[in-house]
Amino acid sequence: MVPGASTGLVALLGDPVAHSISPAMQNAAFRTAGLDLVYLAFRVPAEELGAAVAGLRALGAVGANVTVPHKVAVLQWLDELSPEARLLGAVNTVVREKGRLVGHNTDAYGFRRALEEGLGRLPRTAVIAGAGGAARAAALELARAGAARLTVVNRTPERGQALVEEVRRHFPGCRAEALPLGVEMAEALRGAELLVNATSVGMWPHSEEPPLLDPDWLPPGLVVCDLVYNPRETALIRAARARGLPTVTGEQMLLYQGARAFELWTGQPAPVEEMRRALLEALAAWPGARERG
Ligand SMILES: NC(=O)c1ccc[n+]([C@@H]2O[C@H](COP(=O)([O-])OP(=O)(O)OC[C@H]3O[C@@H](n4cnc5c(N)ncnc54)[C@H](OP(=O)(O)O)[C@@H]3O)[C@@H](O)[C@H]2O)c1
Repeated sequence: MVPGASTGLVALLGDPVAHSISPAMQNAAFRTAGLDLVYLAFRVPAEELGAAVAGLRALGAVGANVTVPHKVAVLQWLDELSPEARLLGAVNTVVREKGRLVGHNTDAYGFRRALEEGLGRLPRTAVIAGAGGAARAAALELARAGAARLTVVNRTPERGQALVEEVRRHFPGCRAEALPLGVEMAEALRGAELLVNATSVGMWPHSEEPPLLDPDWLPPGLVVCDLVYNPRETALIRAARARGLPTVTGEQMLLYQGARAFELWTGQPAPVEEMRRALLEALAAWPGARERG
């Protein structure tokens, strides 16, 4: 549908946004669903975030995605938060409802759907590497879904410990512990069903930097999930596949967080296969993908 005078706006607010996959994925979804909506990415410096949110209100935007580095800062400009956004303390999706801007977080949903699709179930014991936004979504969602034991491994140990304390506070039934990044991980991995890389290690343009762990630490039967989606096959995923381990890759989470956002904006089921096709096409055109040939 060609944009016209009645076209509704969905915006992406972030910095940077130039390589974002979401415009390709969401515009494909709007086209497939025959919706008169357009998704546009806006590079918003931190000091302009409040003005950008006021702009969403003034322009009557249908909603927005919020990405790095604004997912936490945006909370102060919104009228209401969903329970998921409140739990995670971060918003990646904004929906205008009766003139009010409501903040949601679809990252945890995306993570869970990716695991369910890849494995058909959610593991009950996991090692999570990282303690940033993606790690919080993964740890809190696994704990919410009934995980019995979680180990958080992070380069900055205090941040890992803070995430563990949060998991314990919200989900006292989950045994959570923090470890420093290093050889201690090997022991934790031996007792786990799942490893989640929620650090940015392996991400383009640093894809070939030192790996997160020694591949010999990956025990037989471990499921390896990497939230990094560029490149699609990270060094960690390559190492896991070389050992015959089941893997879940980052673009699955990206797809399902986007599908859930689409449903929140439109009230319609997301055209997931069309979104997947657009996402894979956009990822194949990324600089990281081209470099790897
Ligand atoms: N697939 C998806 O839909 C999806 C969604 C969200 C994020 N992601 C991906 O997940 C990754 C993390 O995102 P985020 O939003 O959580 O970022 P973030 O909040 O900035 O957190 C980054 C994490 O990576 C760790 N880290 C960074 N460089 C490291 C290094 N060289 N060695 C060891 N640890 C390192 C940081 O450790 P410190 O605490 O020590 O700094 C921190 O735990 C990114 O690659 C992002 O693209 C994917």
